[in-house]
Amino acid sequence: MTLPQADPARRFARQSGEIMAAIAEVFARGLFVLGPAVARFEQDFADYLGVPHCVGVNSGTDALTLALRAGGIGAGDEVIVPSLTAAGTAAAVVQAGAVPVLVDVDATTRHLDPALAYAAISPATAGVVVVHLHGIPADMDLWSAFAAKHGLFLLEDCAQAHGAEWQGRKVGSFGDAAAFSFYPTKNLGAPGDGGAVVTRNAALAARLRALRNHGWRDSARISETPGGNSRLDEIQAAVLSVLLPHLDADNAARRVPACAYRLALADLTCSLPPEQPGGVYHQFAITLKARDRAQEWLRERAGVGTAIHYATPLHLQPAFADCGRGPLAVSEALGQSLLSLPIQPELASFDIVRKVAETLADFQAERPSQSRGLMKSV
Ligand SMILES: Cc1ncc(COP(=O)(O)O)c(C=O)c1O
Repeated sequence: MTLPQADPARRFARQSGEIMAAIAEVFARGLFVLGPAVARFEQDFADYLGVPHCVGVNSGTDALTLALRAGGIGAGDEVIVPSLTAAGTAAAVVQAGAVPVLVDVDATTRHLDPALAYAAISPATAGVVVVHLHGIPADMDLWSAFAAKHGLFLLEDCAQAHGAEWQGRKVGSFGDAAAFSFYPTKNLGAPGDGGAVVTRNAALAARLRALRNHGWRDSARISETPGGNSRLDEIQAAVLSVLLPHLDADNAARRVPACAYRLALADLTCSLPPEQPGGVYHQFAITLKARDRAQEWLRERAGVGTAIHYATPLHLQPAFADCGRGPLAVSEALGQSLLSLPIQPELASFDIVRKVAETLADFQAERPSQSRGLMKSV
């Protein structure tokens, strides 16, 4: 493979001097978990997003779980979740003790379909998780109004949308809480697992701080709630503080190949991701027919790595088999046809975009019968 679909090592290499110095500082201090590097990153990230509170945890899944628990979601509650998302989004609801209700996405935005979410509301519905899938911001005016009207806890899943904006305001600042993942391939990724919850609610933030560390509120170490261990470590936080000042430039750099893909793929039989201002292209996911063969073709003919986000919507997975609600045909069609092309801030060369487009054009020319008849938006 000459071009991997994602390559976080290249991002770390760009800032390697600063990263190594920050890690050396952690070792020199000798404090490795929940120390000054975590406190500094929490402040930096809260300031960046324009929210008062950020609580570092050890993954995006834990960020979602603890945000729901801190928001009072638990046994007997239902939470509406899109079926086309990472497993962690729905697993978090289960870990919080509630039931995920999986709803279809809109064919164009690939976000939770508001009409179907409305239809899925029951007397047990207590929350809704809005996923900014692939780094494309969801309509937060709509979801804020939706949650307020129905009295629901609004949780933004920002695992793929660090720095994305809706109407000029950072996503993560709209919901009752928002969860971020710092998995290495994310737009802001650590050299290991990490996550954070941000919120404007001081009481919720205090509950989160207790929940991530055995339910302790202070140094007395008395568990007021059965918390657990979801602490962010100092090395991840120190590296994240080095990378955060580069996030906006990296997101801008992702828009360059995204724009080039739009031009280069314009004549192909495929549909492109929604063109939403404020999007940060965590993925550039097209849809096309015979997707699996196209993926193979790209790998074999051009050495281009691609990925699929997501092939199997959650309602078709054994863990969530009883959780689907209403028609889910769009998630299923997208699962068959989505293909995430390489997109990285370092992908400035148009040669690669051209190579991907030409290889896909060859594929469709050789297999025209398999390429025709694609619905415009799926
Ligand atoms: C949309 C979404 N939600 C949740 C998660 C879970 O994050 P983590 O892998 O850090 O637990 C991910 C990561 O893959 C994600 O993309």
